[in-house]
Amino acid sequence: MKPIFILNGPNLNLIGEREPEIYGAGTLAGIEEGLRKQASAVGLEIVFRQTNHEGVLVDWIQEARHVASALILNAGAYTHTSVAVLDALRAVSLPIAEVHLSNIFKREPFRHRSYVSPAATGVICGFGAQSYRLALAAIIEILGSSDASTRSLHA
Ligand code: DQA
Repeated sequence: MKPIFILNGPNLNLIGEREPEIYGAGTLAGIEEGLRKQASAVGLEIVFRQTNHEGVLVDWIQEARHVASALILNAGAYTHTSVAVLDALRAVSLPIAEVHLSNIFKREPFRHRSYVSPAATGVICGFGAQSYRLALAAIIEILGSSDASTRSLHA
């Protein structure tokens, strides 16, 4: 099985330090470690990356098309601004989970709009680091599912 790509956008390198009342006290490295264990428990591999640059995120999404089995994406603020990220995602025919630490719908109105959601299989937000764990659990189920109706959800 190809690895599951877990991609993180701008400022997510600063979680743990940045607005802990919103994003929690945990670090991105801590989240990565937990996800790696969760995946390896079922014999899967993850590729976990973070960038502050929109074009790099687009490059990685394009790379995922060929070398990943699924994509989990927290695009950070690019969620709310990036048509380039949306266009890149539209070229990906893999399960895609959109993830946010915070509940973006409980926050400022400009965060209610997501350019990622129209291309995502599903969205998980508001559970802090657990959002990532729930997204990975959902992706693992989809990848292991022999149920065509579940798999067709991401088509
Ligand atoms: C975020 C929510 C975004 O609105 C924000 O710009 C982020 C993090 C989250 O994980 O809650 O950088 O994606």
